[in-house]
Amino acid sequence: MDKFRFLTAGESHGKCLTAIIEGVPSGVNIDVDFINNELSRRQQGYGRGERMQIENDTVEITSGVRFGKTLGSPITLVVKNRDFESWQKIMSVAPEDITDDRAFSTYRPGHADYAGSVKYNQSDLRNVLERSSARKTAIEVAVGAVAKLLLKELGITGTSKVTQIGSACCPDDFKNEVDIMREKGDTLGGKFVVLYQNLPVGLGSYVHWDRGIDGRLAQAVMSIPAVKVVEIGTNPLGYQGSKYHDELVINNGEISHRTNNAGGIEGGMTNGEDLVISGVMKPIPTMKTPLKTVDANTKEETEAHFERSDVCAVEACSVVAEARVAWILADEILLKYGGDSLDELKKNFNK
Ligand SMILES: Cc1cc2nc3c(=O)[nH]c(=O)nc-3n(C[C@H](O)[C@H](O)[C@H](O)COP(=O)(O)O)c2cc1C
Repeated sequence: MDKFRFLTAGESHGKCLTAIIEGVPSGVNIDVDFINNELSRRQQGYGRGERMQIENDTVEITSGVRFGKTLGSPITLVVKNRDFESWQKIMSVAPEDITDDRAFSTYRPGHADYAGSVKYNQSDLRNVLERSSARKTAIEVAVGAVAKLLLKELGITGTSKVTQIGSACCPDDFKNEVDIMREKGDTLGGKFVVLYQNLPVGLGSYVHWDRGIDGRLAQAVMSIPAVKVVEIGTNPLGYQGSKYHDELVINNGEISHRTNNAGGIEGGMTNGEDLVISGVMKPIPTMKTPLKTVDANTKEETEAHFERSDVCAVEACSVVAEARVAWILADEILLKYGGDSLDELKKNFNK
């Protein structure tokens, strides 16, 4: 990220999640209710676990905004973990509080546990779980909401929706599919699509491999925990060229495309059509009916550790993807049009 830059910090059961964002021009309207609504969207969806009943995520902004507008200085966002109250001792920073309460040593298949414990030399797998958990996507959604507010100033808007849960492609069947898996102590994944509208032509570039906006978007979506497939536009597999490619036409005096199978990107650049990017989330790896695994201490085969968990989180995942796409679009907008203030950005954008 060159222009819209940020870091996040925070453990799943730590005190809070934090982000510091740099690069947002001054004068952008920051609607806290909007950010909180995005946070609440991430908590929705049929099949979520008990954690979502405890957490009611809201953001606190502690820098970079005054009287509802950005100052151009770094913006700090904080989302508290309400569950921290019950975890204070377990997650304590102080060495004298050391405890093996909630420690575990049975690797959970499909999680970061095994590779993470080898990499960071940890025997208590809690030390891997805490940051590898998808809880950190809450603060990512808050950062995405700020990016969306910047994009909104230029008329660019985004949405997302779930298109498949397990084998069900019809929203009416999603709940039933989740109920069956919950009953069995099993889990489900699914597919979602993110759509952004009113993008200018020419975000991204073909000049070098890492400048292509398709590659940047793919990384942003692919690195969401549990996402295993990313597609831009219509999956081209099996198509004839004559049926797949989007012909150029004149529409009300303007150049546009007859179809949008390319999903709004050609040659690593936005082409003025809607951006369409889909992802596939694998089934949640923590299961009530546990998978077989190995205990890190005894080196014996056993059953995986279970910690309260979602049965299905595709809806939440789609909201996370929407937020991550907003990061990349905000970065590309700032790269192309620049500006220290919103006025300057708008002038450059509307030229
Ligand atoms: C919004 C969201 C919620 C998730 N909730 C859970 C969960 O409750 N339990 C779980 O085992 N995995 C959950 N996951 C998936 C794991 O975090 C993920 O599979 C794991 O960190 C390993 O990463 P990988 O699948 O990318 O290899 C969730 C992912 C997302 C995006």
